[in-house]
Amino acid sequence: MKDRKESSPQPIKIQDNTFRDGHQSIYATRMKTEDMIPIAEEMDNCGFWAMEVWGGATFDTMHRFLDEDPWMRPKILKKYAKKTPFSMLLRGQNLVGYRHYADDVVRAFVDKSCEIGIDIFRCFDALNDFRNIETCVERIKANGKHLEGTVCYSLTESRLGGEIYTLDFYVAKAKELEKMGADTICIKDMAGLLSPYDAFDLFTALKKAVKVPLHLHTHYTSGMGSMSYLKAIEAGVDIIDTCLAPFALRTSMPACEPIVAALQGTPKDSGINLYKLLELSEHLENIAPKYKHLLADHRLSIIDTGVLAHQIPGGMISNLTSQLKEMKALDRLSEIYTEVVQTRKDMGYPPLVTPASQIIGSQAVLNVLFGRYARISNQLKDLVLGLYGKTPAPIDKDLTAKILKNYKRGQTPITGRPADELPPEIEEAKKTIGHLARTDEDLLGWILFPQTMEKYLQTKYGNDVPPSASAKE
Ligand code: CO
Repeated sequence: MKDRKESSPQPIKIQDNTFRDGHQSIYATRMKTEDMIPIAEEMDNCGFWAMEVWGGATFDTMHRFLDEDPWMRPKILKKYAKKTPFSMLLRGQNLVGYRHYADDVVRAFVDKSCEIGIDIFRCFDALNDFRNIETCVERIKANGKHLEGTVCYSLTESRLGGEIYTLDFYVAKAKELEKMGADTICIKDMAGLLSPYDAFDLFTALKKAVKVPLHLHTHYTSGMGSMSYLKAIEAGVDIIDTCLAPFALRTSMPACEPIVAALQGTPKDSGINLYKLLELSEHLENIAPKYKHLLADHRLSIIDTGVLAHQIPGGMISNLTSQLKEMKALDRLSEIYTEVVQTRKDMGYPPLVTPASQIIGSQAVLNVLFGRYARISNQLKDLVLGLYGKTPAPIDKDLTAKILKNYKRGQTPITGRPADELPPEIEEAKKTIGHLARTDEDLLGWILFPQTMEKYLQTKYGNDVPPSASAKE
């Protein structure tokens, strides 16, 4: 056993996502910092490659629902976890919000994130248009931090291949990221679509194509997650993401414990102490009563087998269902599934991740109920106009003309970087918010979430400042 270990200098590295994606995926991002503190020091001693503690939806939910200053979490946790690098999920020009922000906001946000203790930036764009991460990249590198260039995993068929999402596509994207200065490259499989043998082929090809370490992020949603990790490990992936068991499985990540156990004594042994992990899970079980009500328990199955058939992620299905309920058209759900496939194809096969999943889903509903493109949402017009970036495949010219006819924001798609269209925001925001924003952190938070952050700041500072008149979300 010992000899086998020594013959392989490359144990699998594990990033723990319990404090971010874990509770974002299954407990509505509601975990409080106070429940992280008691195990932060022990987590730090486990030997994880990194701990994901921030970004994604945490910024939003912390100030909106938990009455916590979002900027404080990394600062607080850093006091307890001093050795393990902290990582965050950053949506490129969307930062941790839901629209594209101007470059001055993006620069200030990344600088501030470095200052509060983020070491590794997992930076992605929903359309895999890397012009949308350029400004982030510039500041991450300027601050001497770790850039994890990220490709969103998507498919055009049930397996890798077909029109767009081929091995060559991912290899080309990875090379592009390496050129941009990525320190590691991550394949981000947000819907758990990556199948085990595709994972093997993908990481075999990527290993040959780029020199930097490779990271796989997958979700357990379809039930394939742990199998895909194992095959990716066999193909040479360097780092994987897991959560401690109580925050794993379902739509979250595969659990850490079984993977650590499965690799024990093999050349890929993680070196992480299984018993330590069990103690940490025990703490999470003790806080369970606070979070259990947030767990979706309307189905017996903890996996979403539907994803295996139609590839539409669970979150998107619940959005579609509620939209159809409102329109009293729930009986048309199966037609919508078919239409989602067509609408996505028409729009150049964007990955079904926020915001593309919502844009495609809503349009598919409109298409089924009122006729194909008889009614068109403004977000779809923006997508066609190029304001989200370049779609993976081009959109048909006639369809483009039809969709953009008389659109007030423009009729000819832009081909440049979307953020070049946006004027600076910070100085204007300072004038609007006035004294309510006492720090740069307050100001940036307010630019991202004007309505809810204004409410939060009024509470924080004891309501002694009148709200601004013109706050807009
Ligand atoms: Co995720």
